[in-house]
Amino acid sequence: MDKKSILCIGAGYVGGPTMAMIAAQCPEYKVTVADINAERIAGWNSDTLPIYEPGLKELVEKSRGRNLFFTTDVEKGIREARIIFVSVNTPTKTFGSGAGKAADLQFWEKSARLIAEQAGEDKIVVEKSTLPVRAAEAIHRILQSNTKGLNFAVLSNPEFLAEGTAVADLENPDRVLIGSMVTPEGHNALEELVEIYAHWVPREKILTTNVWSSEMSKLVSNAMLAQRISSINSISALCEKTGADISEVSHAVGMDSRVGSKFLRAGVGFGGSCFKKDILNLVYLCECCNLHEVAAYWEQVVLMNEYQKRRFAERIVKNMFNTISGKRIAVFGFAFKADTGDTRESPAIHISELLLGECATLAIYDPKALANAKADLAGAKGTIEYCSDPYEAAKDAHAIALLTDWKEFAGYDYRKIFSLMEKPAFLFDGRNILNHKELFEIGFNVYPLGKQELTHL
Ligand code: NAD
Ligand code: UGA
Repeated sequence: MDKKSILCIGAGYVGGPTMAMIAAQCPEYKVTVADINAERIAGWNSDTLPIYEPGLKELVEKSRGRNLFFTTDVEKGIREARIIFVSVNTPTKTFGSGAGKAADLQFWEKSARLIAEQAGEDKIVVEKSTLPVRAAEAIHRILQSNTKGLNFAVLSNPEFLAEGTAVADLENPDRVLIGSMVTPEGHNALEELVEIYAHWVPREKILTTNVWSSEMSKLVSNAMLAQRISSINSISALCEKTGADISEVSHAVGMDSRVGSKFLRAGVGFGGSCFKKDILNLVYLCECCNLHEVAAYWEQVVLMNEYQKRRFAERIVKNMFNTISGKRIAVFGFAFKADTGDTRESPAIHISELLLGECATLAIYDPKALANAKADLAGAKGTIEYCSDPYEAAKDAHAIALLTDWKEFAGYDYRKIFSLMEKPAFLFDGRNILNHKELFEIGFNVYPLGKQELTHL
């Protein structure tokens, strides 16, 4: 085993980009990323990476074949590595006790057991996945139950990158958080991991805490970010009733330096694979600790998000004369946010299902997420067209529902789009990224989110 040898189990949205950054910044380390999904690994070894992320291809190509390797041979990877990151998925449990809230740790546990089985020397195991507080304790127990007398140190090193900006976030993180057990072995392991990040992250941005604080901080970071979105979305509903404008309110509130301006954009609701699951994980933890008021407080963030998606779909139906049955609705954007092809928990899924439930015909366009959209709606009843061109989607449509904040949506020829559509033409801007006044002047009936509508009716 080479001391400067790293393995990451899980070649997903986190494992792939994170290891590509470590390999690029630490050329003296050999970095291997292993996954049981052969198709994914083949993708990482090809010109078409399995995930879309600006700048990622260039980053991977810098080190791939030099000190960055992608493989399905997890066992060999474990035997050869000194430091093993585990970045497998930790979805919400769908069965048994805690179903619908607790994190499903089966992939993590399998990885820990395999590490204990394959290891021939002491190793450092790093929690890269987002895990419940005190997961490190259980993992440590599984690892230490090996019969070879080996010692494992478990560190928590949660990831804070956001999709769409993963490369920039990894290159210049707000902070790197590393939690360790308060033991001499824990401390030594921590130093080894700090040394890796210190290749490019300033020391003052590398925070070291106890392992439970690190696990907790990851859950709370996501919960607080999501809470800001639910807070502003709740006010968007009130703005529509009162004549206040949500963009003006966000701006005015966010200019208070104590509040800050980020994460105050109202929209169709937050999506992505983590916010909901991590909040529910926190809720479950609170319930297990008999903190029911605390659990209810955080659960409301998720409930408000469900309300916002429903509210958006209901607003479409209500304003289109209370029926969208048989009407074609062009859906602009299916990804959960711009600059990614990821549609996990995308608000577009639920909103599309609600519109299909009203018997609308959907014509979906997204620059990167069409394949995922097809998979997400595979079981949905109704007529859906997947369009490779936005103008094709808008042709003969009664309405446009804009669901993702892709920049390109603001640059289209809306005069042409208007001429292609049925009249009256409706436009529901779920992200407030279009020029509403201009669209109104073209002839659209415009429904921005959290603002007064501009209609000719
Ligand atoms: P993902 O589903 O994209 O990737 C997980 C990978 O792990 C999959 O490719 C899967 O095949 C692999 N895997 C599962 N079990 C395995 C096993 N036993 N052996 C080898 N490989 C195995 O998930 P992701 O989005 O990368 O998220 C991973 C973790 O990171 C989650 O806990 C998530 O909460 C957290 N996280 C995600 C993000 C994000 O932006 N997606 C950001 C921060 C933290
Ligand atoms: C989020 C966090 O930002 C990351 O720090 C974290 O590492 C990650 O979750 C995770 O643990 O998975 P991500 O989900 O990739 O990252 O993307 P965000 O930029 O946070 O957006 C999440 C959702 O909130 C998107 O649907 C986005 O459109 C929405 N959003 C965001 C708003 O509706 N309004 C805003 O002001 C900001």
